[in-house]
Amino acid sequence: MKRPAVLFVCLGNICRSPLAEAAFRREALTHGLDAIADSAGTGGWHAGEPPDPRARDVALRHGVDIASLRARQIHRDDFTRFTHVLALDRSNLADLERIRPKGSEAHLSLLNAFVPGKSGQDVLDPYYGEMPEFETAWRDVSEAAIHLVRHLLNGIR
Ligand code: 4NP
Repeated sequence: MKRPAVLFVCLGNICRSPLAEAAFRREALTHGLDAIADSAGTGGWHAGEPPDPRARDVALRHGVDIASLRARQIHRDDFTRFTHVLALDRSNLADLERIRPKGSEAHLSLLNAFVPGKSGQDVLDPYYGEMPEFETAWRDVSEAAIHLVRHLLNGIR
């Protein structure tokens, strides 16, 4: 299997997908998985912006600094650049299915498809919530990262 390249996609690329990218990078490093990781939004309203301050705070509380990340919008080319395009919620997945070029071989699914007992479930959007919602999002993407890294290592070994 070629080196995994994983793109995490939410709506704005300032809350959930940067957290998912950070949690995945850390989990991959811990387990010696050589993988590319990035994140994007289906929307471009926040392109060029750093993650939401609440997302930065929650990541820092868990030992990861995501301040240097910058939001960008998904592009059709991402379906050839990445082996895995993972949606944070079902609305993001529906949008990605529309954008996906015909014949794309990238794996496209919900992030939670890798989490036993959580297939079909969204990582809830914390944008209109407060810190507890951001903590929940961090917990959810960290749990998913564990299962995703395990899955990818199984494909390589
Ligand atoms: P994200 O959260 O998709 O997890 O980055 C959101 C960020 C911005 C908006 C909505 C959700 N917004 O409406 O601007």
